[in-house]
Amino acid sequence: MVKLAHRLIEFEYAIRDIAAIADKLRASGKKIYHLNIGDPVQVDFTTPVYICQAMADAAFSNKNFYVNSLGIPELREEIVNLEKRKNCIIMDPDDVLVMQGVSEAILFICAAMLENGDELLLPGPVYPPYINFCKFFDGVPVEYKLDEENDWNPDIDDIRKKISEKTKAIVMNSPNNPTGVVYSRKHIQEIIDIAGEYDLPVISDEIYDQIIYETKYECPASMTNDVALIGMNGFSKAHLATGWRLGYVYFHDPQGKLNDIKEGIEKLARTRLCANSVSQFAALEALKNPKDYTNKMVEKLKGRRDIAHKRITELEGFSCVKPQGAFYLFPKLNFSVLKKWDNDKDFVLDLLKETGVCLVHGSGFGSYGKDHVRIVYLGPPDFLSEVFDLIEDFLRK
Ligand SMILES: Cc1ncc(COP(=O)(O)O)c(C=O)c1O
Repeated sequence: MVKLAHRLIEFEYAIRDIAAIADKLRASGKKIYHLNIGDPVQVDFTTPVYICQAMADAAFSNKNFYVNSLGIPELREEIVNLEKRKNCIIMDPDDVLVMQGVSEAILFICAAMLENGDELLLPGPVYPPYINFCKFFDGVPVEYKLDEENDWNPDIDDIRKKISEKTKAIVMNSPNNPTGVVYSRKHIQEIIDIAGEYDLPVISDEIYDQIIYETKYECPASMTNDVALIGMNGFSKAHLATGWRLGYVYFHDPQGKLNDIKEGIEKLARTRLCANSVSQFAALEALKNPKDYTNKMVEKLKGRRDIAHKRITELEGFSCVKPQGAFYLFPKLNFSVLKKWDNDKDFVLDLLKETGVCLVHGSGFGSYGKDHVRIVYLGPPDFLSEVFDLIEDFLRK
């Protein structure tokens, strides 16, 4: 037996791990209802045709070569225009690096910043790759509390308490996966102020910034000129192109505090040659010729959120903050009512085996996710109704 390297032994990704169990059940003939993966393109949303056409045109005109490791210059320029248009951030194309999704950006940032027990302050509950990639580079993930009693906004005192000599950066993720919270302007400002006080950079995961309901999105970079900030965004969600693997990082760093980190990330980008070339030409078309497919998606999602939220809060033993962004519900399970179980993972596994409804256990999102489940409400209304009927029957039994 070849020994697995220590850095992968603890690697877990609840979202995909549950999917692997569901796949086995499906192979044995069971119908599976997927509410576990945040991929709009796997339900009834499709990538806009003109963007697909741009990708096909790029492929047929043989733009299939390795492109610039940092991203094609025209796309970097359009990303600068996009961020100025939607978030009022003034940047230069050199401040933008094109990545193979935000996932790669998280990996590269951790690689560039962390070593020997350096700590990364993460929102808890947390999108799991932050924990994995942080540990991968011998960093220590430290979660600050998102407060369910306060609509899952960050607990500022908890952030302050958890800063140590080893802290390297504070991560924000608004709108948030898995809670759906859109951090309030006040909370973002307080995090920026703390970062300024301790001279720490902020890392801002903005992948859901255009998937927003009643609340206004506040962009952290537009609120500071002295705190160094790395923003991350991409084409997976707002542009309905999850499989194209395309995202970017931008540096909002007027004082150049992150120059070494940026250079390190550029070295990594060169080492992996480039991000997908034809996706970049397609993304360029999406940005140069914007249409309103994201707004239409958000309009549909709002109705689906309302259906899912109403149904979940009608169930005995469940309570759920109404999310203001992204496409997840993160209800809390009350095990003094749901007496048959005493933890979220057993509940999710029983539900899956009995009904085929596939959710993700909250404890897969770090310690603050315990006693919760994550429900993806991307599916159409009749699908959601069928799923909630199944959950209701399951609980009645
Ligand atoms: C908070 C968050 N960041 C990053 C990602 C990954 O994005 P990408 O598809 O650009 O790698 C996801 C995907 O679900 C996410 O929820």
